Amino acid sequence: MRHEIDVFSSAISFSEQDVRNKTVVVIDVLRACSTIQTALEHGANGIIPLAENDDAGRYFGFLDASSMLLCGEKEGKKVEGYKLGNSPLEYDRKTVENKTIILKTTNGTRAITRSSGAREILIGSFLNLTAIVEALKTQDHSEVLLICSGWNSRLSIEDLLCAGAITHQLFEAHLPDDATDGVKVSYGLYEKFGSNIPALIQSSNHAKRLRDIGFEDDIAYCSQIDVFSSVPGFHEGVISIR
Ligand code: MLT
Repeated sequence: MRHEIDVFSSAISFSEQDVRNKTVVVIDVLRACSTIQTALEHGANGIIPLAENDDAGRYFGFLDASSMLLCGEKEGKKVEGYKLGNSPLEYDRKTVENKTIILKTTNGTRAITRSSGAREILIGSFLNLTAIVEALKTQDHSEVLLICSGWNSRLSIEDLLCAGAITHQLFEAHLPDDATDGVKVSYGLYEKFGSNIPALIQSSNHAKRLRDIGFEDDIAYCSQIDVFSSVPGFHEGVISIR
């Protein structure tokens, strides 16, 4: 099926109307979507993403610590009192298996919750790149938005590169003449830098921020392609493997 597809560049770059009746892929390579994928692959029951105005503190009182973990970051660092931050490397099987994770991140969970009026919401990163493309190819619905989470309303090059990788595979390396500006830019970025994805990610603004606060290993981890073959989806407030 021929897909009508567009690319948005930050968690706040789209409206409720934009996503209505569309299939949305939320992308946050560094790091929320890579972390969500990893947690689910390691046996987490589900992830509840918190919206920007949700106060995670209200969960403290009644959280059953044996089955739920309050997790997330502020400026990339674990929030005081939370069980885990937003490093995918923290989400090992021993820690997350059979747990429900309440996750609040600066841009990724914001993009996910802001998309909640969409027809279907998928969670994408380089870790599940081909699985996302296959999911889009096999669905009967043709209107797709790739939402790059970005950073504080700005574009993040690693998210745009991932959107480009998706469009490149989806269009089988033939950019349609009527592609939108967002598709053209992301596709062109992938054509120029797709042969060395880890290097481009290492050079990104957010990789520098993460290195500065000691998360060097996360960058290499999140730059891996097709480590997993599942697609998480966000449905009725919870993210789980579709
Ligand atoms: C976000 O949601 O803004 C990110 O995933 C930030 C981070 O690297 O923790």
